[in-house]
Formats: sequence, structure tokens, C-alpha cells
Amino acid sequence: MADFSVAEIREMLQCEGQAQQELFDRALRLKKETVGEGIYLRGLIEFSNVCRKNCLYCGIRRENLAIERYTLTDEQILDTVRFAWRQGYGSVVLQAGERVSKEYEVRIERLVEQITTLSGGALGITLSLGEQTAETYRRWREAGAHRYLLRIESSSPELYRRIHPDDSLHRYEDRRRALDALAECGYQVGTGVMIGLPGQTTDDLARDILFMKGLDIDMCGMGPYVECAGTPLSERSLAQGGGTQEELQERLSLTLKMIAALRIVMPDINIAAATALQAIDPMGRLRAVECGANVVMPNLSPREVRANYALYDNKPLAFDSRILERCVRYGERGDSLHFKKKKK
Ligand code: 5AD
Ligand code: SF4
Repeated sequence: MADFSVAEIREMLQCEGQAQQELFDRALRLKKETVGEGIYLRGLIEFSNVCRKNCLYCGIRRENLAIERYTLTDEQILDTVRFAWRQGYGSVVLQAGERVSKEYEVRIERLVEQITTLSGGALGITLSLGEQTAETYRRWREAGAHRYLLRIESSSPELYRRIHPDDSLHRYEDRRRALDALAECGYQVGTGVMIGLPGQTTDDLARDILFMKGLDIDMCGMGPYVECAGTPLSERSLAQGGGTQEELQERLSLTLKMIAALRIVMPDINIAAATALQAIDPMGRLRAVECGANVVMPNLSPREVRANYALYDNKPLAFDSRILERCVRYGERGDSLHFKKKKK
């Protein structure tokens, strides 16, 4: 596999018109040749918006007192998992704000065991529960979870610092270490970044791709940054003239180019079409599938809590089901081909 330079990736991210279409076609071709044409479904269960962190961009940050906090019961979560299983989903994702306690560790461990039992071990289980100790990651892995999503948000330590509070809960080095711990525990590891952050350059994004390559990740989920009213970063961004329709379209197209470029640099990983794409364009996720993404994560959380998991403005409450008319691989776990090859 050829090594790509920052300059080569920058060129991919900057191309427009005919060159952009060629980039998308190349990524789509490569996807079909490597991981195949199939789209894998992950049933996303956002089971709690309680979070101990205070990320400057996020609508469910601790200091946002304007939202109603919720946590689903075990029974509500398991009902949703059973629904996903009956609908032919090959995998579920348990996602929530970050919480850390012994009680929480045990609760998740028990839930993972119950999910494993109810599907006879056939249902894939992905966790997206933030930074935890290596010991917690290990226990959840042993209970049956086998994939973990933890976005690095930006691989530039400097940009990371600018979008997080400067305290011990929000350290770049800790996040970076958590990603290593996950790989050591034997998870298929997914990471990702936000695209179009205030002050982010094309070279930052090119280096994000090389960061993912360097980490040898198995999965990626990355999406456009979308302002969330009332958050500190949104205020900064709007003051700098960001967040206009035109600029959001720019972030959308940059995200599609990032997906295509990552598919070219890491052809055999799983790449998700992020929900945030659909906050900008109703066709957003569909377009991602057409330029290299091979995973979609329809939101299965109970309707009455969906609006409370508002990470950013215009977060879609429903899934664009046109994607389901595509080549969806029902009933398959859709493990990362990259991960399988590494294990051999
Ligand atoms: N815009 C886009 N994505 C966001 N996330 C949080 N806030 C925003 C925002 N304003 C993303 C982060 C996080 C994931 C769960 O949601 O990347 O990892
Ligand atoms: Fe919490 Fe994640 Fe939002 Fe940060 S991005 S405040 S960790 S939910």
C-alpha cells in the first residue's frame, strides 16, 4: 500500500468540479473492490444524554441546563435491541454521554451480557461511551462488546485544546491513550473527527487522515461540525462569520471529500455515513454512501427521548430510508475487513 503525503491528501480535499467527481468515483470503485457494495446497518441507541464533560461544541455538555436529561431503563434498552434484532439489524451501538463510576461499569457489563444472550451471540455490539479506564474497557470486552467508537475529534493537539475546556477531564493525551487501550483490549476500534471546526485548516484534516492511518484504525465515523445554539464554540464560530448556509454546504462537501480520501488511504476499513451530514442536507448520508461510506447507523432510540440527544442544531430525528433501498446487508454483523486481516 502506497504511503500518502499531506500534500497528496490536501490535493484531494481541495479538488472541485470534474476532479471532485473523479475522486468520488475512484473511492466508490475502491470500496466495491475491497469491502464490497454492501451497506451495513447499526441500530443506534442513544440511551442517556447525561454527560460529565463540557466539550465546547456539544449540545449535551454538562453546563447546558436548557435540556432535559434522560436515561433509558435496562428494559427500554433491551426492548430496543430486540426490535433491532427482529428488523434484521446485524449490530447495535450503545451510545451515551460520558459517565464514570463502578456502578455504571457494572450496569453496562450486565447489559452487554444480556444483549449477547438474547441474540445467541450473533448480534454485533458496539459501545460509544467515552473515555474509561483500561480495566473498564477490558470488562466490557469480556462481557461481549467487540467494537468501540471514540472520536479523537481533531488529531491536532492544539485544535483539540481550543475546542475543549482546559481541565483534567479534557486532555488530548488521555484521549489518545484511551484509543491505545481499546486496541490492546482487542476491540475493533473506530475514531473520527469533526470537519469544518473554527480555525481548522485543510492541512489539519489531511493530518487527521494520516493520524487514522498511523493508528491503524478499523472503523471511522466523521461528520461536519454543526453549530449548536448556546454552546461556547457556536458563539465563537458565528462571531467569525461561520455557520452560514454557504459555509455549511462547504463543510458538507469537505466531509464527502474526507470520506473519499480516507477510503483511498485505508480501503478496507468500515466508514460510517455520519448523522450530522443529514443535518445539512436531507441527502447527506446517501451521498456519503456514494463516495466511500459503507455503514449507516439509523437511530432507534424511543421517539420521546430523541429530541433530547441534541448534539447540534437540526439533528435529524428520522432516518432517510432511501438508503435502505440500497444494497443493505441485513442480518450481517459486518465486521471490519481491516480488523480481520490484521488478526490473521
Ligand atoms: N457538531 C457535529 N458533531 C458534534 N458532536 C458533538 N457536538 C457536535 C457538533 N456541534 C459529535 C462529536 C462526538 C459525537 C458523539 O458527536 O464528534 O464524538
Ligand atoms: Fe459529552 Fe461527548 Fe458531548 Fe463531549 S461530545 S459533552 S463527551 S456527549
